[in-house]
Amino acid sequence: ASSSVIESFPEDRGSMKSIPSLLFDLGRPLLSRLDPETAHGLALNGLRLLHRLLPRYRVPDGRLARNSLGLRFENPLGLAAGCDKNGDYLDALGCLGFGHIEVGTVTPRPQRGGDKPRLFRFPDAGAVVNRMGFNNKGIDYLVARLKRRSYGGIVGVSIGKNFDTPLARAEQDYLICLRKAYACADYFVINVSSPNTDGLRELQGEEGLARIAMALLEERQHLASSTDRIVPILVKIAPDFSSAELDALAKLILRLALDGVVAVNTTVDMTIVSGKLPVQVNGGGLSGRPLHGKSVETVRRLRAALGPAFPIIGVGGISNGAQALETLRAGADLIQIYTGFIYRGPALIGEILEALAEGSG
Ligand code: FNR
Repeated sequence: ASSSVIESFPEDRGSMKSIPSLLFDLGRPLLSRLDPETAHGLALNGLRLLHRLLPRYRVPDGRLARNSLGLRFENPLGLAAGCDKNGDYLDALGCLGFGHIEVGTVTPRPQRGGDKPRLFRFPDAGAVVNRMGFNNKGIDYLVARLKRRSYGGIVGVSIGKNFDTPLARAEQDYLICLRKAYACADYFVINVSSPNTDGLRELQGEEGLARIAMALLEERQHLASSTDRIVPILVKIAPDFSSAELDALAKLILRLALDGVVAVNTTVDMTIVSGKLPVQVNGGGLSGRPLHGKSVETVRRLRAALGPAFPIIGVGGISNGAQALETLRAGADLIQIYTGFIYRGPALIGEILEALAEGSG
């Protein structure tokens, strides 16, 4: 029944490959030998140069479309925050078939992020460890990029605080980003779950999250009346909570009347890969295949605690079509990928969309 899902990449079926994934395969031997951050930049710049020549991926019927957050998503698969931090590659990435792209995390002022090297690949485990620390060009740059985009899918903006803004005044940074990007964002995500900004995850506690969420939701009332748009505000959480902590967090999220939750960010729990990585890694956040179990369990617990209608975006370790379905069946309305996309390239997008069409059709 799904034979026509990948209409404009018909060569993606069977042993034939789409042009983007063919190019990815050609570049892979070189990319895998380069320092991971250089490879990331090279791959994205290559895609940006070539994307105008490529056929635009289109899901031909409405079967995969979803309404969530008051928005219409052409399909449930998105690109997670951190891949296109500055909105430099929106049009190029948009060609590949993502129904939404989350840009950022962005901070009010540009900042360099952590010391290099800060990105480590573990291909055999399908994992990555990063200590990027919100390297980004600042909110003004991102807004300029967002205004010039031609990508027609949904664009979320992940917002954070500068590393040198005290936690006690963190809400000011989130407010600056909200105000500046309000007119050109489809949704916002409060990122309080990155392990690479000192103390940030403390803001997932009741006092911190309430302070930030209340400030943003109040400001949104003003912005909504001047722009005539109510832009949803979500929160992104870590995968390292116990069940009881998750239940308490879910209650808080409902009480604050946030619009949705993105689960999960990278984990600091390296025990899930103990003995599986070739070297010991100290610090940073782990993503990719080993994270999938934790992320599915977090989504499942949140779905039970938040009720059937509350929007949940499931992310963490999705590396194939079956895992995408598993995250959706655990209760996610939408899903995102990042590390799987680093390793498998554009082919993963087609595989997931086909699996979803088969799973739901
Ligand atoms: C991330 N992630 C991330 N998340 C976020 O909210 N803001 C960010 O700036 C970043 N930056 C970032 C950089 C790098 C190099 C990686 C690998 C990850 C986390 C990402 O969005 C996602 O939540 C996790 O990586 C889990 O999903 P995957 O990668 O296992 O599919």
